[in-house]
Amino acid sequence: MLRLQTPLPDDYTKATTGQLAERIGAAKRALGSRVIVLGHHYQRDEVMAWADVRGDSFGLSRIAADQSDAEYVVFCGVHFMAESADVLTAAHQKVLLPDLNAGCSMADMADIGSVEDAWVDLGEVTDIEKVVPVTYMNSAAALKAFVGAHGGIVCTSSNARAVLTWALARDEFGRSRGHQVLFFPDQHLGRNTGYQLGYGPEDMAVWNPRLDHGGLEETTLKNTTLLLWKGHCSVHQRFSPDQIASFRSEHPQGIVLVHPECAHEVVELADQVGSTDAIIRAVDEAPSGSVIGVGTEIHLVNRLDHENPDKTVVSLDPLVCPCSTMFRIDASHLAWVLEGLVDGQVRNRITVDEATASWARVALQRMLSTT
Ligand code: 13P
Ligand code: SF4
Repeated sequence: MLRLQTPLPDDYTKATTGQLAERIGAAKRALGSRVIVLGHHYQRDEVMAWADVRGDSFGLSRIAADQSDAEYVVFCGVHFMAESADVLTAAHQKVLLPDLNAGCSMADMADIGSVEDAWVDLGEVTDIEKVVPVTYMNSAAALKAFVGAHGGIVCTSSNARAVLTWALARDEFGRSRGHQVLFFPDQHLGRNTGYQLGYGPEDMAVWNPRLDHGGLEETTLKNTTLLLWKGHCSVHQRFSPDQIASFRSEHPQGIVLVHPECAHEVVELADQVGSTDAIIRAVDEAPSGSVIGVGTEIHLVNRLDHENPDKTVVSLDPLVCPCSTMFRIDASHLAWVLEGLVDGQVRNRITVDEATASWARVALQRMLSTT
């Protein structure tokens, strides 16, 4: 999806780091409790320094749902997170994304047209009433609305296990909510969670949206419990078993922590797998002196290293690159939206139309009440 960010005036792009910090501080003081700045863990330090709350995508969606005081929610993260915040905040609150081009390549791998087509295709061969659609938070609001309207639910990397358990649960009469789950857009989170729940490779199949019937045989479509959309995160897909092997040969006592968006062969070799919040907790709880190899976005890894001087925290990937879309949010864009608010201008407001928002809210609230 093409989203256009207005180029910022020179006044922002040419300002020094120190000048921007002063201006952001002044704007925040002027706005006081009218604004809350939310920062996802992958944000740059120059942005995170101004976050009133830091969190993973689940934690930040909870904050959005729970606080109704701030008139403006400046979301330092990516587009799907800001959309979810708009769906979950009260009507008088406005959500702003400092750079409109901060999207997510994984979220773009499933669009509403392809998901609707998949649903029709599936309905031709299987009992669609028994298929529960589950969308990862990393998806457009239209997909969240789709799952809300079809008895499904949203998950994040910190609650995918509880959500899939909910989707496939049986009631007191032994009737299951779903026999099958269509999980999009991240095949890796779906697969890793499936294995955690005791499913095997025979219970999972990859749905390729570019092929008829997802490229799957009719018997597979009828009998597979977890149909996993062929999507991935380009940042987490880079981590490999070889990187873990070389980290372990250099640091035999080292600890390996990875995000569940990594491939299953990577997750299998890790000591722990979890969301960004879970990775932070694991580093916190590791004994002093630990050497920890982490498979997630580099800004979080570097911050963990700086904030835990008694431990060594390194990326498992020697040629690591940041999440290029999270990286778009910088001090210049943050200053630009905050100073706009001081001047009475709401820049880069993210809104979800009410028809979409009402069903997306159903799916998000199901998640919040399930986990
Ligand atoms: P978290 O659910 O850990 O916040 O991860 C979000 C994300 O985009 C990871 O790539
Ligand atoms: Fe999307 Fe991956 Fe960036 Fe997360 S790290 S926002 S999934 S591209």
